[in-house]
Amino acid sequence: MTDVAISGRFYYQGRFRDLTVGVTNGIISEIKKNLKAQVHYSVEGGILPGSTDTHVHFRDPGETAKEDFSTGSAAAVYGGTTTVLDMPNNRLPIVDYDRFYDKKAAIRGRSYCDYGLYSLFTGGNAQVLSKESIALKIYLGGSTNSTGLASIPQDQISKLREEGFRLVFHAESDECLDRNRREVHSLADHDLSRPEACEKMAVDYVASLKYPDKTVTHISSMASLADIKSRDFKIEATPHHLLLNEAMGLGPKGKVNPPLRSKDTQLSLLEAYAGGRIDVVSSDHAPHTEEDKDGFEYAKSGIIGVETRLPLMLALVKKGIVPMEVFYRTVIENPPANFGIKKGKLEIGYVADFFSVKLSEMQKINENRLHSKNSFSPFDGFDAVFPENVFIRGSPALENGELLSDRQGLFLNDIKGARNA
Ligand code: DOR
Ligand code: ZN
Repeated sequence: MTDVAISGRFYYQGRFRDLTVGVTNGIISEIKKNLKAQVHYSVEGGILPGSTDTHVHFRDPGETAKEDFSTGSAAAVYGGTTTVLDMPNNRLPIVDYDRFYDKKAAIRGRSYCDYGLYSLFTGGNAQVLSKESIALKIYLGGSTNSTGLASIPQDQISKLREEGFRLVFHAESDECLDRNRREVHSLADHDLSRPEACEKMAVDYVASLKYPDKTVTHISSMASLADIKSRDFKIEATPHHLLLNEAMGLGPKGKVNPPLRSKDTQLSLLEAYAGGRIDVVSSDHAPHTEEDKDGFEYAKSGIIGVETRLPLMLALVKKGIVPMEVFYRTVIENPPANFGIKKGKLEIGYVADFFSVKLSEMQKINENRLHSKNSFSPFDGFDAVFPENVFIRGSPALENGELLSDRQGLFLNDIKGARNA
């Protein structure tokens, strides 16, 4: 017997249709006009599959004054995100089994949304990485809690391939960053100190690696999109590189790696995104405390975004700047598909995560009302469309804009049917 039925206007096969979706053990089991179930929810507004944010830094364990898994995952759910993939640059980086399982144990029972965990590849640790890692992060240039890896030895690449790890690259070339190092007092200086050329060098290096299913995350410049059709990797971009630029007077709030670029670059990137040239929008949610962000030169790099990513992108759809199909592919469907997660599709056998939204109800983001531990945001005042209801595996997680108290988030590998075989 179907446990749960959810009725409403679902986005299905390219348009909104009146449907009832049956859920059994958290998995979509029926898609019909009508059906009976023990529990029935009728939902207003448009309904889409819950989103996966493939790039967040929840800092837990180790730096929980910046964020922790419960505040970060709560913020995710408020923004329609039902799954997060958490980065490994914790204060003690996730470089081996012990660190991985310590982190997994520390998080257990504390997350409002489902999650996968990355491990950090440091060059020689292929043998000691947990097979449960959702992917490996590779920093080609140094950033918070991580040093850059200039190149990856061929025997290590072969080893990683044998083990079947997915690779996600932070694409800034360390050698190029070294050459451009300088004092930074403004976002324009920060851009000069980590110029687009460093990203291009690293992207070209990734393209040269004979390795399947690679991802380059948070690209910030047009050169990184050159030859993309012939390159076998996936490109992720962030809302901040699509919507913010160094001329907006954001100061340390806008300091991030890779840096915000010129207005021209930002507008070109947004146009390329709307034209379908970018595969995924991930947030690179990277919280810091107010003290961390004090003064420009020594301010830490990173911008929060797990709660605002999807709402900002939906506002672009509402305004006609981004086609609905592009939003659907880059925010809903591709992110889990790229990591072998059976979410992001209204299809029998997929996990029953959904959010509902009224596109007519655009709001201004108010940083004081976001749910991260340090909620200051360069998107304060930006237009956004926030979800009203969120379901995770068929259970309500957000109701009429209010988070329910159950911390029902699970580690992805522990959810039957959530990973591709
Ligand atoms: O700005 C950034 N902040 N870029 C990164 O690569 C890391 C991140 C962080 O963890 O703070
Ligand atoms: Zn990051």
